[in-house]
Amino acid sequence: RYREIDSKKMYGGFYTQEQIKDVVAYAGERGIDVIPEIDMPGHMLAAVSNYDGVACFAETGWGHTFSSPVCPGKDSALEFCKNIYKEIIPLFPYEYVHIGGDEVAKENWEKCPDCQARIKALGLKNEHELQSWFIDQMEQFFTQNGKKMIGWDECIEGGISNTTTISWWRSWAKDAPTIATKQGNKVIVMPNHRFYLDNDEDQADLQNIYTYDVAEHAADPSLIFGVQGALWSERIPTIHRLFYQAFPR
Ligand code: ACM
Ligand code: ZN
Repeated sequence: RYREIDSKKMYGGFYTQEQIKDVVAYAGERGIDVIPEIDMPGHMLAAVSNYDGVACFAETGWGHTFSSPVCPGKDSALEFCKNIYKEIIPLFPYEYVHIGGDEVAKENWEKCPDCQARIKALGLKNEHELQSWFIDQMEQFFTQNGKKMIGWDECIEGGISNTTTISWWRSWAKDAPTIATKQGNKVIVMPNHRFYLDNDEDQADLQNIYTYDVAEHAADPSLIFGVQGALWSERIPTIHRLFYQAFPR
């Protein structure tokens, strides 16, 4: 969301733990679960730039496509990620947490001695498997803390456990729900062409959304958990515009 600071529009912001308790209580009265996603290892630029031992290298920023990721080669980075969720988990009294796991630039991992040492020590094939290893470490941590994990469909690329629930967002990765349901993973269906409500209504108009066959690419339709409408707010300037984008779709 935008905040105005010195009449400049700034993107970002945060909730205090007290504010989150209010949000959870308000939603609870309305039968809504609020599932937190602190996206890792990809979209973590604020964290990796402000704390030591979390990124691969001292210099962080934006590469060709995405920002510098967490370094799965460093134990300190894993500890940092778990510590974040140690604070998050008690605030959200639900079955699931969302790890993120999308849009990870892996170029740093290819060059980072710690990442390469981890790959070698674990006998992994490549950086995709390093991502899977990281996601798997986090899932084990969630399990120990009584939570089930959801992850974006990129998590499939280097293999996932069959307990992860996948959110399928990449319309162009049509095999993701097939692969996921074949190995018994539940899938939340939200291909961006139809279900990204912040995009223009081109393909995501009311009719296209309502007539979409949610089991289109599923090997086992009973594993389709449901649909999700995503309304990313970074390009939504006001709450009124947000409601306009969301409803009636
Ligand atoms: C996503 O839109 N990167 C999930
Ligand atoms: Zn690294």
